[in-house]
Amino acid sequence: MSEQPSGALGSGDPGRGIVAPATDPQALKTTRYRPAFHRAADFRCAKSPRVQGFLTGDYQRFAKTNYCKALILPNPDDETGIWGYYTLSPYKIEPQELSRKQRGAFRGSLPIPMILVGFMGKDDSAPPRLGEALLVVTARRVYRSDDTAAAALILESEGGPGTRLYEWYGDTMKFEPIRRPDPNKKKSMIETGVLFCPLASLIPEEWPGN
Ligand SMILES: CC(C)(COP(=O)(O)OP(=O)(O)OC[C@H]1O[C@@H](n2cnc3c(N)ncnc32)[C@H](O)[C@@H]1OP(=O)(O)O)[C@@H](O)C(=O)NCCC(=O)NCCS
Repeated sequence: MSEQPSGALGSGDPGRGIVAPATDPQALKTTRYRPAFHRAADFRCAKSPRVQGFLTGDYQRFAKTNYCKALILPNPDDETGIWGYYTLSPYKIEPQELSRKQRGAFRGSLPIPMILVGFMGKDDSAPPRLGEALLVVTARRVYRSDDTAAAALILESEGGPGTRLYEWYGDTMKFEPIRRPDPNKKKSMIETGVLFCPLASLIPEEWPGN
């Protein structure tokens, strides 16, 4: 494992700080969730009962209809234990849903393909800042996929605007909020609670031309 983590969260990016080697996204390997193998019942996430219970609860129903895929970051000392996980599903937004400036990161007037991170969380025993690394790993996995393409990750921040988590997505991870016109106030916009981040911003080191 490298002493000097590189990549979007590495030492080269003053906006994001330095990820400890244990959470260096270059070194993390996620794997498909296997309910008979991974001990989802032992996954503890005190900050979010929704995220804690998803794999043993609603996931079973979602998986049957292929609504999402769940990826696991195993505990390196116990591959059946779950350090973190996230789910992926295809998604699209129309360019008009973004501000002019946000739209500039994409091309043309076509709908913008994105990958929805429907659920994401880390176990309470996992190292700090694992979430940062998980999002970079997710972006890399999407970018490197032979089977699909997307221009950005998108998610709905639990608890919505005004929470510490929402701030974290914006300040630390550089996700951008999607806003819509306020029906009660002319020329005013309100937050939708949905945030997106172009893959190029999460994994600049992988991007052609960089
Ligand atoms: C999101 C997550 C993976 C980020 O992990 P991380 O990189 O190690 O970062 P932290 O756990 O320090 O979280 C960043 C900040 O968001 C806050 N936060 C995280 N999840 C939160 C939640 N569900 N509700 C409110 N605040 C939350 C943390 O308290 C922390 O705030 P602080 O800097 O003031 O201490 C992890 O916090 C987590 O598993 N949260 C619970 C599940 C969750 O909310 N998932 C996202 C659903 S959209």
